[in-house]
Amino acid sequence: MTHCTRLQRLLLQPKFLLYSKSRLLLPSSRTFLRSVMTSSSSFSSKLLFRQLFEKESSTYTYLLADVSHPDKPALLIDPVDKTVDRDLNLINELGLKLIYAMNTHVHADHVTGTGLLKTKAPSVKSVISKASGAKADVFVEPGDKVSIGDLYLEVRATPGHTAGCVTYVTGEEADQPQPRMAFTGDAVLIRGCGRTDFQGGSSDQLYESVHSQIFTLPKDTLIYPAHDYKGFEVSTVGEELQNNPRLTKDKETFKSIMSNLNLAYPKMIDVAVPANMVCGLQDLPSAI
Ligand SMILES: [Fe+2]
Repeated sequence: MTHCTRLQRLLLQPKFLLYSKSRLLLPSSRTFLRSVMTSSSSFSSKLLFRQLFEKESSTYTYLLADVSHPDKPALLIDPVDKTVDRDLNLINELGLKLIYAMNTHVHADHVTGTGLLKTKAPSVKSVISKASGAKADVFVEPGDKVSIGDLYLEVRATPGHTAGCVTYVTGEEADQPQPRMAFTGDAVLIRGCGRTDFQGGSSDQLYESVHSQIFTLPKDTLIYPAHDYKGFEVSTVGEELQNNPRLTKDKETFKSIMSNLNLAYPKMIDVAVPANMVCGLQDLPSAI
């Protein structure tokens, strides 16, 4: 008892507090923060998780792997053509085997990295929803599961930003990462949502999708969007249910907000959408 009290007093001394603060705060890279989160939160010990950023289009690419499996199978969600080499280098450094390159939807603001990834790693399978109408090796539908080792992502249809948008959600069982993780694409952004005025978009449909497929998940479910323009990295279902300035409104108010955004014509749409409909392969010599 006395020993514990002394130890507790010792740890409360400023030099020890400074030490523990510096360990947590000085390394500021996102990779460090993610690894702290992965090891200290209740994330499954099987899961290796990295959130990667492409700054021109403010796109997040997510790397998930089952590192308990001998092959360390991995997948990428929403890779970008410009950062394919970075992603593949990281995958090689970590000793992972990339199985799937997945898209949440046909992006209008950047060219997907899936086509380029396949030219550099031919065994990789591209994945997109059947409803997208785009080209890929694997077409997923609501309720499908995409597995890597013992981990899996469930496919939920969340149209409205585009007609073929899906959200990939980690499994609910106890052996899957807890809290659950939802990769929402552009359906839910942190304190926002994707526009609904192009690509078969519908504000009515987006509202229904989000409220029925994402906001019904447990409140501690982590929301990882496809983009962020303000520096946010992650949110939760509970946080967005309470604070999302658009999606907390009633449906008619939401529709009115979405129809009055007065956004500029997406500058990459005429290049990105045709390329992404063919898995990003359009301008690659091997596809000609
Ligand atoms: Fe999008």
